[in-house]
Amino acid sequence: GTSQAAEFNGDVDCLQQQQTKTKKPKMTNDDLVTVVVGTQWGDEGKGKVVDILATSADVVCRCQGGNNAGHTVVVDDVVYDFHLLPSGIIHPTCDVIIGNGVVVNLPELFHEIEKNAAKGLTNWQNRLKISNRAHLVFDLHMKLDGVQEMKRGRNSIGTTKKGIGPTYASKATRNGLRMCDLVGDFNLFTERFKNLIDYHNTSCPELALNVEEELEKYKLLREKVKPFVVDSVLYLNNAIKNGRKILIEGAQSTMLDIDFGPYPYVTSSNCSVGGVCTGLGIPPRNIGNVYGVVKAYLTRVGAGGFPTELLDDLGDLLQKRGAEFGVTTGRRRRIGWIDMVMLRYSHMINGFSAVAITKLDILDVLKEVKIGITYKLDGKPIESIPASDEDLKRVEVEYLTLPGWLTSTENVRKFEDLPENAQKYVRKIEELLNVPVKWIGVGQARSSIIQVF
Ligand code: GTP
Repeated sequence: GTSQAAEFNGDVDCLQQQQTKTKKPKMTNDDLVTVVVGTQWGDEGKGKVVDILATSADVVCRCQGGNNAGHTVVVDDVVYDFHLLPSGIIHPTCDVIIGNGVVVNLPELFHEIEKNAAKGLTNWQNRLKISNRAHLVFDLHMKLDGVQEMKRGRNSIGTTKKGIGPTYASKATRNGLRMCDLVGDFNLFTERFKNLIDYHNTSCPELALNVEEELEKYKLLREKVKPFVVDSVLYLNNAIKNGRKILIEGAQSTMLDIDFGPYPYVTSSNCSVGGVCTGLGIPPRNIGNVYGVVKAYLTRVGAGGFPTELLDDLGDLLQKRGAEFGVTTGRRRRIGWIDMVMLRYSHMINGFSAVAITKLDILDVLKEVKIGITYKLDGKPIESIPASDEDLKRVEVEYLTLPGWLTSTENVRKFEDLPENAQKYVRKIEELLNVPVKWIGVGQARSSIIQVF
């Protein structure tokens, strides 16, 4: 409730409280901000877990990334796909925030809204808030993304060419433009925009940008976006004080985090738990449960090391059964066995309260299932995942092999009703990670999930 939240925010002096020895109900993690993050290389099915948690949330936020993300939520046979909008928007009572850490492509945002509105999304106008500190993704950034990726040649890092990396680069170079610039003095915006273009035109003349056309476009977008731009730091911290239930949906994943993933095959933001504080401006002590989403097997998009990769028919089978194609790019994903070295590393960084295992049903047809448990590099066991992708390419994996269950799990809704071998697989992952499994995904539909506790 409100008073508890206010107390937690430090409004009551702790010492004084100890002295008076008044017993107040204790705050639990459930009263604090909830976070959902990916534990692997993305596409774990975070969308469904977020969707479940959003049913009891008042505010759902994005804190990093841009429209390079893609959550899919299936409701009554309607497939909604979200790239920039927090997927909580499909819950009619949820407010959604696009935080300061997100980079926003405005034409794409409005396109996404219109597309989902045509599918039945309503009343979003009163519920969408965009941070005045969020950076803008311009056509310039998208073009730069394409040109830079081309120049990398065979060292391409597989960007989605949505301009996300170049926008974060502008942010760090300090010539980027933010939402507050757009809705503020347009003359100043024009001047800064021209500076940004000039900066890139000198180093990359092939960009050939039409500055005036872009400015005309942004003059219109400015009016369109104005009603949604807020000081999201203030908004969110007030929401915390008022005891509103807040959910943060991570995009991309820990192994794509710019600091913790196998650089340079990473995205340009912090997509592990640290990005929550920097991308929204909330204190770490307001964060309660951090839920990790773990796919029952592993996928990776684009180049780079993949120790547990399956390059045989089994990989093809899982790729087809799991429909492992990118939502944003349509690219075919590489497939492998679940990797505990990676998951332990992910847990070390994020400190999971519990995890969701998704897409267990995809393994239903296998005679046996494997779990990657340890790595060796140059014949010697290594304690954690190597920093360099070159080393990741060279590690040897030791596996644990378990019998498969050869039974459909799609209609199972209780843990005890899962085939025994499926239960054993889940319990083994739980034991090796030392984190409780709270949910198990067994199908695409919203309802295809087992809540374990
Ligand atoms: P990124 O943020 O881009 O990393 O994506 P994501 O983690 O949000 O993945 P997404 O929600 O797009 O899920 C990927 C696909 O898996 C979607 O089509 C989901 O409907 C589907 N999916 C999620 N959970 C399950 C499951 O338990 N079983 C099956 N068969 N499909 C699932």
